[in-house]
Amino acid sequence: MKTFHIETVGCQMNVLDSELVTASLLREGYQYTSSMKKADILLFNTCSIRQHAEDKIYSALGRLKNVKETYPEKIYGVIGCMAQKEAGTLFRRAPHLDLVVGPGQIARIPELIHKIENGEGPQMELSLERKGRNRHDVESSYDFFDAGREKVARQNPYQAYVRIMFGCDQFCTYCIVPLVRGPEQSRNTDEILAEVRQLVDQGCREITLIGQTVSKFYDTTTGTPLSGLLEKVEAIAETTPLERIRFVTSHPNSMMPDLLAAVRDLPHVMPYFHIPAQSGSNAVLQRMRRGYTVEKYREVLAAIRETVPNAAITSDFIVGFCGETEEDFQETVRLVEESRFKNSYIFKFSPREGTRAFEQLEDDVPEPVKRRRNNELLAVQNRISEEDSRAFLGREVEILVEGTSKTQASELVLIGEEKMSEKVQLTGRTPCDRIVVFDGPMEWVGTLQKIRITQTSPFTLFGERRT
Ligand code: SAH
Ligand code: SF4
Ligand code: F3S
Repeated sequence: MKTFHIETVGCQMNVLDSELVTASLLREGYQYTSSMKKADILLFNTCSIRQHAEDKIYSALGRLKNVKETYPEKIYGVIGCMAQKEAGTLFRRAPHLDLVVGPGQIARIPELIHKIENGEGPQMELSLERKGRNRHDVESSYDFFDAGREKVARQNPYQAYVRIMFGCDQFCTYCIVPLVRGPEQSRNTDEILAEVRQLVDQGCREITLIGQTVSKFYDTTTGTPLSGLLEKVEAIAETTPLERIRFVTSHPNSMMPDLLAAVRDLPHVMPYFHIPAQSGSNAVLQRMRRGYTVEKYREVLAAIRETVPNAAITSDFIVGFCGETEEDFQETVRLVEESRFKNSYIFKFSPREGTRAFEQLEDDVPEPVKRRRNNELLAVQNRISEEDSRAFLGREVEILVEGTSKTQASELVLIGEEKMSEKVQLTGRTPCDRIVVFDGPMEWVGTLQKIRITQTSPFTLFGERRT
């Protein structure tokens, strides 16, 4: 039996795509192996968001050249966003590659692998075509792919992503996503709900609805916005073991009152928002074409805190974007200081070929300055995260237990009954998405537990269950 392995980098979209590809290959009779070396078929599910992510893939491919000479029957593939962006360049720089498949065609991977096995040579599929703006008019295999969910293909059997939107239409000037994932398109509500029910039947306790601008979700066939979709998923949670509903990533321009009210009123929807600000300077936001001012962003935060006072908010920032002055950067520092994000993901600007920033703006902030700004902003955020974490000391929080720090779905299935009650170090998350580490038996995995916090660090809380 042939084995396969998928190396995954990038965002939740890629994690989900790798799960779907794993499921489709298992259905075709291929066997999963955790060993990159031993796999007969090795796929890299890639990300193009920053140069560094691409460089790492090219060097990994470089290291495989000799292996391929010794074992020519091995199949190597690059799938996902970098496949879309680099296309034929991949074959040129890594002639030992067999397969290049963009995010719109991943459903075809088993078929393309069969072609390679039949001696038809290297295969490349990159179409992002979707006919029309709604899934009803659509024929592309990608669009019908998400329904084929398999528990064994997931990293954790109790948690799953559900894609509710494809692509992105925002075209922020720095960002490659609209070019590699295609136009924004919301899925049909009934199909999303069918997928959620399927996942709950498979034992899922937490569902995270994902989209690049998830708060903009709008199903035109039924006139359903994200708040309406959340109500419908909540209705599923009321009658099933589904415990938690989350959604990422929100856009500041679509945080409407109905969405905030839904998070406040629906008990299974967790009080957590990821709303990237990217910068605290209006001049920079304008060059990024984010479509809002920092004043507007502050209003959004104020509205959330008024409607959902216990909500945790996280953000993304890019430092060293084209033309960012020290004063611009200090405005970002001020925004982080006053916003009290649970966490901020901070990135140094990386110019991406094909984007407007690459074509029209100058990457004029020197690397050492980008690095310093990155570290400075990180230090501010860490201090805030640490203070906010410390406020949890002595508090009791409800945790959805996810497993040991390394548990995989396949391992959970293999653990014998007597081992299930041995105490191990478990991890899980609070409703507001804080990671908690505590001791308990494996039997707790997939259940809700009340844990009292006894120790804290900026990004992890430690606790115990009162007996
Ligand atoms: N759809 C989400 C984010 C997608 S990419 C949103 O709109 O916020 C995740 C993060 O990567 C972005 O929020 C941004 O902070 C960062 N990013 C995107 N392009 C980048 C680039 N060219 N250089 C550095 N960071 C980038
Ligand atoms: Fe990229 Fe902007 Fe779309 Fe987010 S909203 S994926 S940053 S273009
Ligand atoms: Fe990367 Fe593609 Fe996601 S570029 S961030 S994997 S959509």
